[in-house]
Amino acid sequence: MSGQVLTVAGLVAGYVPQVDILNGVAITVAKDEIVTVVGPNGAGKSTLLKALVGLVTPKSGRIALEDKDIAGLAPSTIVRQGLGYVPQRENVFETMPVEENLEIGLKPRRDLPLRLRLEAMYALFPRLRERRRQMAGSLSGGERQMLAMARALMPQPKVLLLDEPTAGLAPRFVDLMFEQVATINRSGVTILMVEQNATRALAMSHRGYVLDLGRNAYEGEGPALARDPKVADLYLGGLHG
Ligand SMILES: Nc1ncnc2c1ncn2[C@@H]1O[C@H](COP(=O)(O)OP(=O)(O)OP(=O)(O)O)[C@@H](O)[C@H]1O
Ligand SMILES: [Mg+2]
Repeated sequence: MSGQVLTVAGLVAGYVPQVDILNGVAITVAKDEIVTVVGPNGAGKSTLLKALVGLVTPKSGRIALEDKDIAGLAPSTIVRQGLGYVPQRENVFETMPVEENLEIGLKPRRDLPLRLRLEAMYALFPRLRERRRQMAGSLSGGERQMLAMARALMPQPKVLLLDEPTAGLAPRFVDLMFEQVATINRSGVTILMVEQNATRALAMSHRGYVLDLGRNAYEGEGPALARDPKVADLYLGGLHG
């Protein structure tokens, strides 16, 4: 299908040769979409994002960014080609100031003007401008997540991959984080996120996928999936919690 920014088909991947964690996953993300992947703990959601960005080497299957095959390329090459990635954990350099974290984020795209990229990030996240000299390790959970997203956005990715952007945040910051994700999307960045807050994440997404045991289980429009009791009962522990 044309218009897809990201196409994943028949993706098989794992951490050791004998064990496949992803058993043939297929997803697509169209330009300007927010697509959310949900599923039980251990379903392979984080592994999927790691495989997309080259941190886990695919054993078979296809990963295409626009019309370029990126499966098996080095992470730095994949990032340069336009995939941004915010890991679930350890996503900032704690002993460096906020602005230095952002500067390092630009490394894959030294051709872009640092000043302009910093300004774009501070416009998106005014909080980070106020705290640009502060050590990343001293930020609040929400601010830190903003920094991690801004860092990944510095090289102007075509698609931003977010692994549980609301994990560990106090409930009142969860809505704020989802608003930030929507704002980033409106600024012209296509988003593929993995989330435990399944109902809220799906409700704000154009489309969603449910993964189970490394396979596609369900897919559909975000709000419809969020309301689907079959999905909730089978796969989304805590959906109604
Ligand atoms: N570095 C690793 N080495 C070996 N196995 C791993 C590694 N990371 C994850 N796994 C295994 O891969 C499977 C899928 O893990 P993954 O982190 O992708 O799940 P997840 O869907 O993101 O779960 P969660 O909702 O808990 O974040 C699990 O069985 C996990 O134990
Ligand atoms: Mg995970």
